[in-house]
Amino acid sequence: MITKQTIDQVFETARVEEVIGEFVQLKKAGSNFKGLSPFVDEKTPSFMVSPVKQIWKDFSTGKGGNAITFLMEHEHFSYPEAIRWLAKKYNIEIEESEQTDEQKKQINERESMFLVSKYAKDYFHDILMNTQKGRAIGLSYFKERGFREDTIEKFDLGYCKDQWDDFTKTALQKGYDLKYLKATGLTIVKEGGERDRMFDRFKGRVMFPIHSMSGRILGFGGRILTNDKKAAKYLNSPESEIYHKSKILYGIYHAKKEIAKQDNCFLVEGYTDVISFHQSGIENVVASSGTALTPDQIRLVNRLTNNITVLFDGDAAGIRASIRGIDLILEQGMNVKVVTFPEGEDPDSYAKANSDADLKAYLEKNAQDFINFKVSLLMEDAQNDPVKKAGLIRGIVTSIAKIPDGIQREVYIQECARIMDISERVLFSELAQLINKGQKEVQKTTQQNKQPQLQPLAKKKEETKVNSLLLLEKEVIRILLLYGNEEVAFVNWVHAFNKFGKPILEKEEYTNTVSNELYLNLQEDEIEFTNEVFQLVYHEIIHQLNQDEKISIERLVGNENPSISSLVTNILMDEEKYTLSDWERKEVFVTETAKILPKLVTDAILNLRRVLIETKINAIIKEAQEEEGQTPDFEEVTNYIELKKLLYEKLNRVV
Ligand code: CTP
Ligand code: MN
Repeated sequence: MITKQTIDQVFETARVEEVIGEFVQLKKAGSNFKGLSPFVDEKTPSFMVSPVKQIWKDFSTGKGGNAITFLMEHEHFSYPEAIRWLAKKYNIEIEESEQTDEQKKQINERESMFLVSKYAKDYFHDILMNTQKGRAIGLSYFKERGFREDTIEKFDLGYCKDQWDDFTKTALQKGYDLKYLKATGLTIVKEGGERDRMFDRFKGRVMFPIHSMSGRILGFGGRILTNDKKAAKYLNSPESEIYHKSKILYGIYHAKKEIAKQDNCFLVEGYTDVISFHQSGIENVVASSGTALTPDQIRLVNRLTNNITVLFDGDAAGIRASIRGIDLILEQGMNVKVVTFPEGEDPDSYAKANSDADLKAYLEKNAQDFINFKVSLLMEDAQNDPVKKAGLIRGIVTSIAKIPDGIQREVYIQECARIMDISERVLFSELAQLINKGQKEVQKTTQQNKQPQLQPLAKKKEETKVNSLLLLEKEVIRILLLYGNEEVAFVNWVHAFNKFGKPILEKEEYTNTVSNELYLNLQEDEIEFTNEVFQLVYHEIIHQLNQDEKISIERLVGNENPSISSLVTNILMDEEKYTLSDWERKEVFVTETAKILPKLVTDAILNLRRVLIETKINAIIKEAQEEEGQTPDFEEVTNYIELKKLLYEKLNRVV
């Protein structure tokens, strides 16, 4: 168990914008930051981080919270995992109280798989660097390929001995459970014979650990060292609870900072391409590991930049096979460029054979816009063949139709018309057809998904009343959160009699904190919140006030009850929503808030009372109606109506 002191220290040190900045490209927007939601595909930012309040909110999904919640949502960390991650980031030493056997057992499956993977990474790396066999076979292979030792360290490269079960045995001895060795695919168990036999999956291979965006080990790629044509050159971890090949890009952990900084990502095919580029000083590079790109992978990059440069090995067949996948990238609204390498070269070999400066120059000089590239490539195929050319036009327009931005589409059409030497009109009409078809399909699916919305009319009125009560309750919570600690001059109207004995309202001024004012008034009327979560938050606030005479937003956002923390985050972030669009909120409004604060508070209380009284009156009448023949207690009703009138009077008077 991590001690309370460590947790407190982590909370004090962690900055939400720094933590989220590691995963999402954030842009300044007023006093906040905004960016693309890391949880959904989107083209306009709906994700916001408030450095002042130390919270975030994703308006697309409604998720929100503090730095810890972000890590839990985004990296699927458990609470202690998130604390550990932050402690590591901020160099905070973790104090731990001894774990009981019971607690050890409770670490969940995924966590155990992560642990065993991390152990394997350390083990393979240790074998590579510190054993005679590892150095003679594994390390010398890497050195032969030109990998420097600092590169080997950086990517945690390793070696798995060419023995049947050396790794598995050692891991079991260290106390790792066979269940997780199997689940991660590190160990293969063959059943049958007298007893089951265990093998190391990666026996005799050099190891490339695959890191998640936050640096955890998800799986491995292992390269064979012999020229055995029958065995696969690379062997990868099987799909598992923690490793989903289609959702990760090799190198993303080591590239993410530089991708955001350069505002571009190089996409290569293989492990060695990534590593060689790093050695040549190009760090914004990831690999798809030899398969077609998936939307999840594109989204991973899209969080960091809008620009992707796809690097193709120099074999023509490969390029033709791969360009289809690129339409997917266009669909995400990303700008795609393409670089091809000379016949027989891949990015790895080219980087090795050329100086850093030459490599950079080559990339710059040869980067072509994808659509232009596709046109030129297909034109080669279609030369002098009208039938092929017609097919080609359709192919190109299909790509262009994927681009979400209309203006950009138009520019491409003009460009392509020029390259292909056909009229723009032909291309535009082809495009219009495709887009029409696409929209019809979208309509069809949305219509299918639409649920018939039948709502009994009678219910509606009831609902609006409930809603207005909810809104008022929310307003009270909002005021408490935003202005609770502020001291304000209030005006009260007390019942008095004038010198003729007529009842009047008399003005009385006093100062109080907003929270006290609300608390006293609500207590006086014994008002309870009808909404359970509001009530919870309210009690938590009262608890804080009793303890420290102050409301602590951080502690509410960090509350272990997720309904409390998420309500608080939602209310606070709704205040900031305007920064998402590029308009600045008028300064006037901000300064005025202080002036209108007393009225805001008093109105909230009075309105809440008013609605409660209305509810009361209705309840009395309804009760009488239900018990047939009964007439409502008119005196009671009249009293309430009087009270209501008085409230209206007050509401109008407090200025
Ligand atoms: N790959 C794989 N399984 C294979 C072959 C390839 O998973 N049997 C993946 C690996 O991620 C590899 C990438 O596809 O890095 C590209 O394959 P390839 O170009 O054949 O390998 P290189 O990266 O060039 O590897 P090397 O230079 O070590 O031969
Ligand atoms: Mn290669």
